[in-house]
Amino acid sequence: MKDFIASLPKAELHLHIEGSLEPELMFALAERNGIAIPYASVEDVRAAYAFSNLQDFLDIYYAGAGVLQTEADFRDLAMAYFERAAADGVVHAEIMFDPQTHTDRGIAFGTVIEGLLAAMAEAEARLGITSLLIMSFLRHLSEEAAFETLAMAEPWLDRIAAVGLDSSELGHPPAKFARVFAAARAKGLRLTAHAGEEGPPDYVHEALDMLGVDRIDHGNRALEDEGLVARLAAEGMTLTVCPLSNLKLCVVDDLARHPLDRMLAAGLKATVNSDDPAYFGGYVAENYRAVAKARGLSREHLVTLARNSFTGSFLPEGDVARHLAAIDAFEARA
Ligand code: ADE
Ligand code: ZN
Repeated sequence: MKDFIASLPKAELHLHIEGSLEPELMFALAERNGIAIPYASVEDVRAAYAFSNLQDFLDIYYAGAGVLQTEADFRDLAMAYFERAAADGVVHAEIMFDPQTHTDRGIAFGTVIEGLLAAMAEAEARLGITSLLIMSFLRHLSEEAAFETLAMAEPWLDRIAAVGLDSSELGHPPAKFARVFAAARAKGLRLTAHAGEEGPPDYVHEALDMLGVDRIDHGNRALEDEGLVARLAAEGMTLTVCPLSNLKLCVVDDLARHPLDRMLAAGLKATVNSDDPAYFGGYVAENYRAVAKARGLSREHLVTLARNSFTGSFLPEGDVARHLAAIDAFEARA
């Protein structure tokens, strides 16, 4: 099963690049940039990664991102992710980045995105992984700040595939960002939003109705609303589910009770992703493995999840078809 999962061609659709900052790289960048961090060792950092909810994690995650200063830092960060992704059978990645985490501490938007774009070009040339960028707005900040971020992105809009919405969900409903999402859509960007991770099913309804999203990040709590499940299934809406994240942020109390296979059985287009792998204990293949073991998933389940990762991607139809054909060929060999 381990080899089957690692070699199954897959896309990763829910990955915060800042969440792939491993403690070793955090230390190396802190030293390179002369930045003090509140940890004595890599072990000390890992020991701090015990979270009881989303906010606990976000506080540590935003502090960790402070070591990222130069274009080379962002390139190194993304390259380290691509190396891990390649080993996990990822052939396409849609990467979220949070510009406000950096611009609010004086790092230029261009520094962030040029570093990421350099790594994306290298990953395609050297590792054969294609990738797209999703620019995420921090929902604990204002609508005005999101509009300022969209304006800052203007010179790079042809290099950004989509906008997203992340950070503290409770108290920051999708409706707060309806106008900036409409502006992003008018600029030709695709739309996604975290909804139903900690927030109620109503936030998922709002993401659909008021933001007009193309997919939902997480979506776990949609299962509390039968009508919403039926709607998501009827619309073929992709959910980017993150099992190890759900466990570490206490969205589920035990992976043995993770709803992934219930989502599939309900006709939902669920996918498996790593969210913030440096913080949650595993990259995408480890997420497939852990949830497969905990829920007794079959190979058929795993193949469905991988297929959903391509049909739910923002790739053009022809590329999706090519990736689905590669899965057919993989299945014929396996
Ligand atoms: N930012 C990074 N990871 C996140 C998550 N799981 N939920 C909301 N915001 C995030
Ligand atoms: Zn996320």
